[in-house]
Amino acid sequence: MRIIQTKNYEEMSVLAAGLLGAQVLLKPGCVLGLATGSSPVGAYDRLAAECGEGRLDFSQVRTVNLDEYCGLQPDDPQSYRYFMDKHLFSRVNIPQGNTHLPNGLAEDIQAESQRYEDLIDSLGGVDMQLLGIGHNGHIGFNEPAPDFPRRVHRVQLTESTIQANSRLFQRIEDVPTQAVTMGIGTIMKARKILLIAGADKAGILETALSGPITPQVPASVLQLHPDVTVIACKG
Ligand code: GLP
Repeated sequence: MRIIQTKNYEEMSVLAAGLLGAQVLLKPGCVLGLATGSSPVGAYDRLAAECGEGRLDFSQVRTVNLDEYCGLQPDDPQSYRYFMDKHLFSRVNIPQGNTHLPNGLAEDIQAESQRYEDLIDSLGGVDMQLLGIGHNGHIGFNEPAPDFPRRVHRVQLTESTIQANSRLFQRIEDVPTQAVTMGIGTIMKARKILLIAGADKAGILETALSGPITPQVPASVLQLHPDVTVIACKG
């Protein structure tokens, strides 16, 4: 595991975009696993700028996002589909059909979970998976649990995650209580993992990366992955 500390968010974003951009340059048809939240926004801005300046080409890239809320329409500004369109997809030359998120509106979430897991496999697996980390150590929406979930599945969000994510909603009652997420097994299948974390995550990052490996701290499983880069900002 490589751990890089940066002095601020901007430097973290520059480095993260550099690694994601390098992946696209090395393998133009790569599969990127993408994340939402405030951590990746700066990296997406830079990728969009590089594409706009003709230095990166997303025309053959395929993307799979980690997760999506249940019950939100794709054009709902709080949905992760909306977030991704706004922060990245609409700003680079990626065909919309190459971008994938779980369908949180599916009537049969179990079938949808299977479809999404199979889709990732049929694309050839994820070349580079971008991750943020929740204050309780969640990755994707894999909350602390008795076991590491292996596959894409529906989750009940914890009170602390609902609380944390409510900052992006008008009222806490509007935050969905369920989501569909890649499982820990799905994430661990990615060939490379890039975890980015703001200064507010220093405590949980330390616990996850050097504490015991336990499903109570889902990100701790990354200690077992052969190719993880962590970019953590100090300020
Ligand atoms: C959400 C997402 C996670 C993300 C986390 C941290 O819960 N499902 O994938 O890592 O938020 O978000 P932020 O980067 O805003 O702290």
